[in-house]
Amino acid sequence: MLTYKKNILYMDNSLLNDIADKISTPAYIYSRKKLIENFRKFNGAFSKHNRIICYAVKANANPEILKILAKEGCGCDIVSGGELKLALKCGINPKKIVFAGVGKKDEEIRAALKAGILLFNVESIPELYKINEIAMALGKKAPTGFRVNPDIDAKTHPHITTGMSHNKFGLSLNEAEDGYLLAKTLKNIEISGVHCHIGSQITDPVSFEIASKKISAFINKIEKNSLKLKYIDMGGGLGINYNNDKIIKPKDYAAAITKYLPKNRVIILEPGRFMVAETCILVTKIIFVKKTAKKKFIVVDAGMNDLVRPAIYDAFHKIIPLLKRQGEQHNCDVVGPICESSDVFAKDRKLPPVTSGDYLAILCAGAYGYSMSSNYNMRPRPAEILVEGKNWKVIRKRETLEDILK
Ligand code: LLP
Repeated sequence: MLTYKKNILYMDNSLLNDIADKISTPAYIYSRKKLIENFRKFNGAFSKHNRIICYAVKANANPEILKILAKEGCGCDIVSGGELKLALKCGINPKKIVFAGVGKKDEEIRAALKAGILLFNVESIPELYKINEIAMALGKKAPTGFRVNPDIDAKTHPHITTGMSHNKFGLSLNEAEDGYLLAKTLKNIEISGVHCHIGSQITDPVSFEIASKKISAFINKIEKNSLKLKYIDMGGGLGINYNNDKIIKPKDYAAAITKYLPKNRVIILEPGRFMVAETCILVTKIIFVKKTAKKKFIVVDAGMNDLVRPAIYDAFHKIIPLLKRQGEQHNCDVVGPICESSDVFAKDRKLPPVTSGDYLAILCAGAYGYSMSSNYNMRPRPAEILVEGKNWKVIRKRETLEDILK
């Protein structure tokens, strides 16, 4: 997707410097081609299975991205009424929408029931009662499964591990067993599936195999109570290559996560990061190069409000210049303009020579980038651009101060 031609960086066949000059910075720039490629690679890895790929909208909620995925036949994993509305508006088939989250509000449950979604992934007993009550008022049956928490250490960053017993998500296997028995007695609940999601940016296939084994044993146990779970939703979590990480290939991931699952079911997968992370760069302009006695700081016009991952997860994102100048590499910190010490995109990173006015690309910024951005320090959010071959278009306008003041 990214190539230097004569030391100038291109995304597909688009000259990135030109886009940055025209659109200003910071800007998130995406490749349409890479997005479609990612979806097809992931979907293809499960071709032996009856499956529904439900893209985790939280990773990136740009409407154009959802529309492209909808055209490919992709479904969505949503966690709010907002994501539901967006998914429907972008043409996602409601029969391919699954709804997770520990705090679903009445109006969100109502909207999802009215839309006729595929599956509520229920995270507590009070939520089960609530869904039953609302479904009854609407004269509907709610397709339901429990999100089980299989207590697996996915060996990822503590902030993005979700399937351990101390996490707030889902029910333990024992609680879920009782939950299914209770659900059987509720008139407006239709038991249709089971769900788990053990964490994000997982690079160890063994964690997925363990999840597969535990869920399979759980299904066996549950189905002794004359219940049949049609949908097995194994969540998301497939890691990508941020920093020469050893990653799992989609087909090996598919083999691991389905390894022990019973046959003749519909497998649901909820990839977020894999689908969008590598489709996108955050382009930022160097404002100043500041040298102190101890350090060289490259001060850029993007901040932690635009891309918060390095600040809150200590996440590594490669940084490369749009124009590669010749000369010796230097150790530097790439920092934003925000008044926080954690507003740092890279520490002690070797960069080729750069000067103020140059553009830098922060790589793998498509997942949890724009979607986690904020207006901290009264900063409007960046523009989003979609590249297709040598053409490009704005898929979200840069926010203005007027937008924020509203
Ligand atoms: N399904 C559920 C229920 C989830 O909670 C998540 C992510 C996914 C699917 C998608 O997981 P993925 O395939 O993207 O790993 N902000 C963090 C990541 C938080 C993930 C939250 N849940 C980050 O920037 O690394």
